[in-house]
Amino acid sequence: MNPDGFAIGLPEIAVSTDPELRLRWLTEADLPALQQIFSAPEVVRYMSGELQDTEQKSREYLLSIQQGFLTGALYQWGLEWCGEVVGTTTLAGLERYPGGIYQAEIGFALAPAHWGCGLMRQTLPALLEFAFSRLGLRRISADVDPRNLASLRLLEFLGFQREGLMRQRYFHLGEIQDAVILGLLRDEWLSRQS
Ligand SMILES: CC(C)(COP(=O)(O)OP(=O)(O)OC[C@H]1O[C@@H](n2cnc3c(N)ncnc32)[C@H](O)[C@@H]1OP(=O)(O)O)[C@@H](O)C(=O)NCCC(=O)NCCS
Repeated sequence: MNPDGFAIGLPEIAVSTDPELRLRWLTEADLPALQQIFSAPEVVRYMSGELQDTEQKSREYLLSIQQGFLTGALYQWGLEWCGEVVGTTTLAGLERYPGGIYQAEIGFALAPAHWGCGLMRQTLPALLEFAFSRLGLRRISADVDPRNLASLRLLEFLGFQREGLMRQRYFHLGEIQDAVILGLLRDEWLSRQS
């Protein structure tokens, strides 16, 4: 049993707008899909972590996802579309307080072949609803390179507000990167739904 009472992996999250789309627990059978997604340089360009371009690296990555689940520090779902894992969505750095989980940082990645089809736009509202209503988070943060326009548009579509710019925040894949900080509060999310 993990700290939030999940016994055998993360619960599945359905996406109401598309019955072929769902978030689900990742298993060993998904290693080739994980490798395909995270071995694309354009996917990891603005993300933390390194290219997962070997089976061994993908295996270690899956182990870190499973370990994060057990400790309750990282929840990462596979995004399945038409029976195939084409991306992942993440609540990372889960912070707890006496009322449960206080806040987390959202992450998402899609295999480039599926960019521009609105899959993440359809999926992320279901993740946010789960995070705020089921897990009870008060705040979700995001940390995005200012050049990552698709991510910024996606987050602002969901209601995230820009809160600041961290200059030269990261040294990643050989370059210095700035980070735009965005946040979405539970009250803001719930009032957008009513
Ligand atoms: C972020 C990501 C999941 C977006 O998925 P996607 O399905 O391709 O997103 P969409 O095509 O629906 O685009 C989202 C928005 O960005 C816009 N957009 C997409 N590419 C763009 C670009 N190069 N420049 C400007 N806007 C762009 C789209 O027009 C859309 O805006 P709209 O809905 O207002 O028209 C995908 O690009 C990805 O996996 N990127 C790599 C991983 C990553 O950077 N993750 C986030 C780390 S913080």
